[in-house]
Amino acid sequence: MSSLSTPHLLGIKDLSPEDIGQIFSVADNFKEVINRPIKKVPSLRDITIANLFFENSTRTKLSFELAEKRLSADVINFSSSSSSVSKGETLIDTVNNILAMKVDMVVMRHPKPGAPHFLSRHVDAVIVNAGDGTHEHPTQALLDAYSIRENLGSVSGKKVVIIGDILHSRVALSNIFCLQKIGAEVMVCGPATLIPKHIAELGVQVSHNLREALNWCDVANVLRIQLERQEMAYFPSLREYTMMFGIDKRLLESLKKEITVMHPGPVNRGVEIASDAADSGQSIILKQVENGVAVRMAVLYLLAGKIERKG
Ligand code: CP
Repeated sequence: MSSLSTPHLLGIKDLSPEDIGQIFSVADNFKEVINRPIKKVPSLRDITIANLFFENSTRTKLSFELAEKRLSADVINFSSSSSSVSKGETLIDTVNNILAMKVDMVVMRHPKPGAPHFLSRHVDAVIVNAGDGTHEHPTQALLDAYSIRENLGSVSGKKVVIIGDILHSRVALSNIFCLQKIGAEVMVCGPATLIPKHIAELGVQVSHNLREALNWCDVANVLRIQLERQEMAYFPSLREYTMMFGIDKRLLESLKKEITVMHPGPVNRGVEIASDAADSGQSIILKQVENGVAVRMAVLYLLAGKIERKG
């Protein structure tokens, strides 16, 4: 079994372009497997994985769980809302108690940036970051880039604009790192208040003009306005935001070329994207979700190469 250059997947920052290529090539094989009548392979038999979700999730949680089951891993699920965390238990105590049940890998979503990095230094298990606060969401970026590769044949040389609430988005940061590592040009577009001041230092272009950005790009990755992370008003109203930065079919049809439209979900229909654009032939939103299972299978499989089965 080949494996990645890092023992954990904490962020795209830690992956080399070769790692990303390897993940994509293994995901190609798993995508073929999950489209067969018998969708399961024994690759992670005898490996136990705990999914620890300290923050809400639909896609990521279900996608990891399905990926683990398709690989024949034993799976346990933990959600902080129904756990003893509310009784004052620390993160390390919670995780060490779970690991005492002989768990090999931990997939964790946490509202605090850096929580998975902290865990990786204190517990004996492979850690996969399923989203840490406003920091990184590495498997989302991998499945986004994989979906661009599938739709356009390659990522290298493509122009990708990430639109919306860049300031609060872990998806944006992981996408920037991932796309640049494999040769795409990246632009961010949104209101000045939702774009971090020094983001150009990451080598991305910045635009506040949606039409200009859409005419520049091959792919538009549209993000949700993360109202739950906004402690102040960053724009006058959602209606105003939609008028300036919302995408609909009419706008797409008025562009110089046909672009690919993506969204990591959850979608706020009628805010950042209208239904006629989200459900159009240019949208690959559901393809992204489908590819998420194959990409997460690849990540888990490659990281499991580092594990000695626990006795
Ligand atoms: N894309 C994403 O992270 O969605 P969830 O919050 O539903 O997992």
